Amino acid sequence: MLLDIVPFNDNLTLKVSGIILIFSIVGGIFWFYNFTIKTNQPKFPGIPEIKGNSIIYGILKNLKDDHPTNLQKLALKNNTPVFQCLMGTQRIIFINSYSQANEWFIKNQTALIDRPLFYTFHKLVSTSQGLTIGTSPWDETCKKRRLNVQRYMTTPAIKERAGLIDTEGYSLLKDLYRDSKNEFIYPYKYTQRLALNFTTMLSYATRFDKIDTPLLGEILDLVKIISSFRSTNKNLQDFVPFVRLLPENERKREAINASKTREIWLSKLTQEAINHKDTRKSIVGDFANSDGLGRLNIDDIKSICVGLVSGGFETIGSTASLIYLQLLNKDGNIWQERIYNELIEIYGNVETAYENVLFEEKCEFGVSFIRELLRMYAVIPLIPARKTMKQFEWQGTIVPEGATVILNAQAANHDRQHFGSTVDDFIPDRFMKDESINIPPYHFTFGAGSRACTAINLSNRILYAILTRTCLLFKVHSNPSLKPTFDYINFAEDRTAQTYWPKNFQIKLEARDESMVTKCLEISHTNCKEELSYSMEYAV
Ligand code: HEM
Ligand SMILES: *[C@@H]1O[C@H](CO)[C@@H](O)[C@H](O)[C@H]1NC(C)=O
Ligand SMILES: *[C@@H]1O[C@H](CO)[C@@H](O)[C@H](O)[C@H]1NC(C)=O
Ligand SMILES: *[C@@H]1O[C@H](CO)[C@@H](O)[C@H](O)[C@H]1NC(C)=O
Ligand SMILES: *[C@@H]1O[C@H](CO)[C@@H](O)[C@H](O)[C@H]1NC(C)=O
Repeated sequence: MLLDIVPFNDNLTLKVSGIILIFSIVGGIFWFYNFTIKTNQPKFPGIPEIKGNSIIYGILKNLKDDHPTNLQKLALKNNTPVFQCLMGTQRIIFINSYSQANEWFIKNQTALIDRPLFYTFHKLVSTSQGLTIGTSPWDETCKKRRLNVQRYMTTPAIKERAGLIDTEGYSLLKDLYRDSKNEFIYPYKYTQRLALNFTTMLSYATRFDKIDTPLLGEILDLVKIISSFRSTNKNLQDFVPFVRLLPENERKREAINASKTREIWLSKLTQEAINHKDTRKSIVGDFANSDGLGRLNIDDIKSICVGLVSGGFETIGSTASLIYLQLLNKDGNIWQERIYNELIEIYGNVETAYENVLFEEKCEFGVSFIRELLRMYAVIPLIPARKTMKQFEWQGTIVPEGATVILNAQAANHDRQHFGSTVDDFIPDRFMKDESINIPPYHFTFGAGSRACTAINLSNRILYAILTRTCLLFKVHSNPSLKPTFDYINFAEDRTAQTYWPKNFQIKLEARDESMVTKCLEISHTNCKEELSYSMEYAV
C-alpha cells in the first residue's frame, strides 16, 4: 500500500515515505512488543524469581502438562516456597508451602481479598449472568453476595438442610448397591450426580431423576467445559495475548457456546424454583418470598446459585468418589471396621447411627479420615487466583497492590516440613495422632482466609455422612482385576484440568446385613418423601 503511492523518481517523497515506513515499523514493533512480550506488572523487587525458558511463554512451557506438580518441584529444587515468575506476559507469585500459605492467605488475608480478571473466563464465558462469587473481584456486589451465601452455611443452617444430605446420600447408596450387585462399578458418575442433585436442590429445589436423563449429561459436560476455562493449562490466550488475534479458534467458540447454553438451563431452573416457591424450600424461593429483602436482586440470586452449583458440583463429586478409592487401600477393610465399630459404640445400633451422622460428626476417626482425604487430594490443586488489594510487608519487602497470587494447595498439603516424612501417604488417623497439625485450616484444599470456600463445614458434613453411612451398611470391595491408583499426583485422570477427578477404579458394595440395609433405606425413603418428589426430567 505504502509503496504503491511512492513515485521512485521523487527524492523528497522517497525520504518522507522512508520516514513513514520507519515509523510504522517502529510502531509495529512497539505494538508487537506490547502485545506479546510486555508484562502486565514489572518485576517485584525482593521476591525470588524463577525464569522460564521462553521470552513469549515465560514459565508456561517448563510446566508442561502438570502445572501444580512442576511448580512444586521448582519450589523445592530452588528452595524458594514463594517465587514470582512469568506465565506468558502475566507476572504471578506462587505460594508452595504450608507455612507460607498461612503467612499469605491467613495472616495477610485482608490484603489478599481481591481476584484478578482473566481474558477467557471473564471476557468470554461470564458475559451473560455476571460474575459468580468465586470469580468476582472484591466489590460491594461480591461482598453482599458472599454474606448472603454464608447464611446458608452456618451450623444451624446445615442442620436444617440435613434432609438434603439424607435424600442424596440415600439415593447414592441405593443406586451404588443396586448397580454393583452383578458387576463392579466406577462410583464417580454416581457421586457426580449426588453433588449436582445436592447443589441444585439447595439452590432451586429441583433434582435430576434418572442417571441417564439427557439434560443431566449435558449439564455435567457443560460444567466441565466451563471450569476448564479457569485452568492455567488450557487457556494460552489468557497469558499470551497474541493468541487472541488468531482467527476465531475452537476453544473460543466453545466458550461462547457453553456460556449461552448454561444461561438457558439456569433460566429454566430459576423459573422452576420461582413456580414452586411456596411449597419448596430453596435459595431462589427464599428470595422470591422475601420481596427483595436483603437487598438482593434477581441477578444476584442467579449469580449466587450458579456459583453454588459450579463451586460444589465438581469438587464434592470428585472428593466423594475418593472416599471409595481410599476404602480400597490395603488397610481399607480395617478402616471400614473401625468406623463401623466406633459408630456402634457411640450410638448403640445401626439405625440410630444412620440417622445421627446427618446432624453431628462424633466419630473422630471418620472426621480425621475426611480431613486426611482432603489433604491428600487437593482436587483444585491450584487455588483460583487472588489479587492483592493493598500492599503489605513480607519478609522485609513490600508486596505491592495489584499483584496476582496463586496458592499451590497440592504443594502446601504435601509439605514435608509441616507433615513429616509420611506426608505422601494416606494416614486416616493422622490428625488424631498429631496434635501439632490438628489446627485449622488443616490443609489448603478449600483455599484459606478471606475468600476461602464458603461451604467448608457443609462439605465436611456431606463427606462425613457418605463415609459413615457407607461403612455402617456395607463392606466396600475392589475389582481384583483393576488396580486403583492411590498416589496424590497420578490419581487424577486429567492433570490439565482445573478440578481433578480420579482415574477409573471399581467397587462393589456388599451388605453387612441385608435386612438392615432395607430398613435404613426405608427410613430415608420415608423421611425424604417430600424432597424425592422434587425430581424432574425435561429436555432443553
Ligand atoms: C470438597 C468440596 C469443596 C472443595 C474442595 C472446594 C474448594 C474451593 C476452593 C479451593 C475455593 C477457592 C478458595 C480460595 O480462593 O481461597 C472455593 C470457593 C468457593 N466455593 Fe468451594 N469447595 C467445595 C465445596 C463447595 C460447595 C459444596 C459449595 C456450595 C454449595 C461451594 C461454594 C464455593 C463458593 C461460593 C466459593 C467462592 C468463595 C469466594 O470467592 O469468596 N464449594 N471452593
Ligand atoms: C501481614 O502479616 C504480617 C505478619 O503476620 C502482619 O504483621 C501484617 O500486619 C499483615 N499485613 C496485612 C496488611 O494484613
Ligand atoms: C465450622 O465448624 C467449626 C468446627 O465445628 C466451627 O468452629 C465454625 O464456627 C464453623 N463455621 C461456621 C461458619 O459456622
Ligand atoms: C439424583 O437424584 C435422582 C432423582 O431421584 C436419583 O435417582 C439419583 O440417584 C440421584 N443421584 C444421586 C447420586 O444421589
Ligand atoms: C452449542 O453447540 C452445540 C453442538 O456443538 C449445538 O447443538 C448448540 O446448538 C450450540 N448452542 C448454542 C447456544 O449455540
